[in-house]
Amino acid sequence: MDSNEIRSRFLKFFEDRGHKILPSSSLIPENDSSVLFTTAGMQQFKQYYTDPKSADKDFGSRNIVTVQKCVRTGDIDEVGDATHLTFLEMLGNFSFGGYGRREAITYAYDFITKELGLEISYVTVYKGEGVVPKDDDSRTIWNELGVKDIRLDGSDVFWGPTGGSGPCGPTTEIYCKNGAGEDVEIWNIVFNEYFCDHSRERLDKGEATLKKLDILGIDTGMGLERLLAIVQEKKSVYETDLFESIIQFIQKSSTNYNERSARIVSDHIRTAVFIIIDGVIPSNSNHGYILRRFFRRVFTKASIVELPNNFWIELIKIISKIYFKNYPEIKEKFDYLVSVATEEERIFEKPLDGVETYRLDLEATKIGVIKKLGTNHIPILKDENTASGLYIYTLFETFGIPIDLCISVAKKLGYEVDEDEIAKALREHQEKSRAASAGMFKGGLANHNEKTVKLHTAHHLLLAALKAIIGLTVKQKGSNITEERLRIDFLCDHKLTDEEKKKVEDWVNEKIKEGLSVIKRDIPRHLAEKIGAEMEFGAKYPDIVSVYFIGPGDSPYSGVSIECCGGPHVLNTRELGHFKILKEEAISQGVRRIKAALI
Ligand code: SER
Repeated sequence: MDSNEIRSRFLKFFEDRGHKILPSSSLIPENDSSVLFTTAGMQQFKQYYTDPKSADKDFGSRNIVTVQKCVRTGDIDEVGDATHLTFLEMLGNFSFGGYGRREAITYAYDFITKELGLEISYVTVYKGEGVVPKDDDSRTIWNELGVKDIRLDGSDVFWGPTGGSGPCGPTTEIYCKNGAGEDVEIWNIVFNEYFCDHSRERLDKGEATLKKLDILGIDTGMGLERLLAIVQEKKSVYETDLFESIIQFIQKSSTNYNERSARIVSDHIRTAVFIIIDGVIPSNSNHGYILRRFFRRVFTKASIVELPNNFWIELIKIISKIYFKNYPEIKEKFDYLVSVATEEERIFEKPLDGVETYRLDLEATKIGVIKKLGTNHIPILKDENTASGLYIYTLFETFGIPIDLCISVAKKLGYEVDEDEIAKALREHQEKSRAASAGMFKGGLANHNEKTVKLHTAHHLLLAALKAIIGLTVKQKGSNITEERLRIDFLCDHKLTDEEKKKVEDWVNEKIKEGLSVIKRDIPRHLAEKIGAEMEFGAKYPDIVSVYFIGPGDSPYSGVSIECCGGPHVLNTRELGHFKILKEEAISQGVRRIKAALI
């Protein structure tokens, strides 16, 4: 039985029992900004547990069945074992007062044992705590169904809420054996009986209140990949039909294969593909940042297992083949997916060169050609057999060279690595950067998020456009950015004509479409002045200044926009969307103001 058959059997099973089939919601939750990604099937239905009547209106049914795309970053360190994934499809049936424990448990039992012919190893039920009593009803029902092994469990079998508040309640979980004979949790049946006024974290600390809901809500979730491993009698999710061909490709093309890295590559690239399909572009904040992190981990692990150039093209092709029936967008957007991955690799490439340099230096040290003293005169080796963790950390801090790649290079050359030293330096670095970002950074964005960062880059483009269209006499006099719009005040002796405004808009939008990279370089102030970088009039600059280049050409000091700035900015203008001037007005003699937005 393959993944396609399981999906359709699940939907049909519940449709036959009075459930309405609904599509998966987006991976980016639409009405819950307290979570970055959809992590559970119930997320799109959160409101119906407190307002079940609106389900009648919205769906014409209180009972729903879905196959929901989910992204779970919380388990990222576990990825590579037999069961954990960052992207998964969750099979779920939901009810907002339509039925209760007996039906929910019996449906699950029938689907597992009769429809799929599997054997249940054991189930868990909630042992009770605080205001929530022991779940004797579930125990009785399982018992009547003939399940012998019923285990009482604690907070693991109390689920939710997702985000800052929401429905939650005791659960009963079903365990079955995989192909390795290990018991794996496959189905979680949640009885949403309570509303929690705060997050799960605060609930666990005793800082939240549980209020009984008017109805008993049902929320069940069964990971498709885990279920497949059991149905197909596999030892891990990576051997099922959703992963087999991806892993086979990596194995075949790798020249330094290791299972865990291969699994991480295959999991993360799949997650990245699904996140992009739902409209996210890599960037330095929020969803875009998580997406970028997935790509970075893909490239890091890929270089450890030594995959060939452009390996992602083949992987995306395989993924689109696996999913084309259920997610045809992957095939439709194939070229786009490849171009995003290629761009991310290009940005990532630089640090990889650094890893190669580190390897060469280590090798040279080994054969005694050099006694390398690195940045800040930290020796490359701690002692004869141990690579210095501090040195590796410094490479990361100074040049952004990935730590795990350096560790892997050192180990491959037979060195031990002082990883505690790295962890300690990282902790200190994090504390420092927290303190720094709390303060104001001159010439940069003090409070930034995805929206303001984009507007900040658009601001640079706008200034460059004004100079290109109106003339070099344009000088910036002031600026301000909110989440909604940017504002620029500039020297100009006349009201902009409609034609000029249109030309400025078109200029900016053209640069956005060209997908120009935005690169930061720290260079001496006199050089910045010489190449004509925009500098704030009257401001005092340090000897070394940060300069942002948009669309640098062949020469490292060229670009359509060159500005001294503290950042942050997007990495590519393609991230900006569409630029529009909202208003142009005079604010004093010879000074004009433009307000503009990205839509
Ligand atoms: N919401 C529960 C889970 O994610 C059941 O669907 O496990």
